[in-house]
Amino acid sequence: EPTDPLEAELLEIALDAATRAGAFLRDGRPEDLGVAATKSSAIDVVTEMDIAAEKLITGLLADRRPQDSLLGEEGASVEGSSGVQWVIDPIDGTVNYLYGLPSWAISIAARKEGETLVGVVHAPVRGEIFRAVRGQGAFLNDRPVRVRPAPELGLALVSTGFGYLAERKAHQAEVVRWLIPEVRDIRRGGSAAIDLCDVAAGRLDGYYERGLNPWDYAAGDLIAREAGALTGGRPGEPLSPALTVAAAPGLFEQLQRRLDELGAWHD
Ligand code: IPD
Ligand code: CA
Ligand code: CA
Ligand code: CA
Repeated sequence: EPTDPLEAELLEIALDAATRAGAFLRDGRPEDLGVAATKSSAIDVVTEMDIAAEKLITGLLADRRPQDSLLGEEGASVEGSSGVQWVIDPIDGTVNYLYGLPSWAISIAARKEGETLVGVVHAPVRGEIFRAVRGQGAFLNDRPVRVRPAPELGLALVSTGFGYLAERKAHQAEVVRWLIPEVRDIRRGGSAAIDLCDVAAGRLDGYYERGLNPWDYAAGDLIAREAGALTGGRPGEPLSPALTVAAAPGLFEQLQRRLDELGAWHD
């Protein structure tokens, strides 16, 4: 249990919101779920359930802590006075959710003064709740998780993701084209938040992606770091939308250096 009362409160609220949204999304998924709107391209989709889940989560958060700031993928943007900001992805892995694949998650993080204090990633169909509090380890369904010992790059199982814009995807495919023969294998799971948690749980050796947004990685970043991973962007830089890399120490530096050489980042 967190010793800091603010962190304990934020964790309890994040777990409650993620659990409620998880039940709503899992049990309420319409059989005939369709695309409600498209965003940056025809394949960048949002369903009515993304929007409804974000409303449910932000409603709960605003109820419990009305002075906090809110930032959500589906448009939540509130400037509060408490210094605490919630960063929310109501469904990370919308395309998996749309098709009925199991790997999608609710991602909720609480930040203060630029630091993530609490992160929760809930994957209801997998029956998994990952959580972390700054400095206090990472847990999967109440059991501590730990990254697996770093292999050399050539033996690493590495996950990645691709964006929604054709030009960006072509560039990402070019990076993968070089990386595939240099690693054990590549995975594309479809949820950045789950990828980061799978690194935390030792189910992947590493993960990288270009072009994420803060709601994709805010919670998973803390969970991965609290499980012993290093996370970052280009060498010497913190993780950012330009590049997100996560792996155990030893592999992390190799992967980061190689991705930089391959131009896996963007400005
Ligand atoms: C997406 C997923 C995916 C990643 C994309 C993200 P969304 O989030 O995390 O794995 O490759 O870059 O945009 O749109 O399903 O919330
Ligand atoms: Ca989206
Ligand atoms: Ca996302
Ligand atoms: Ca989303």
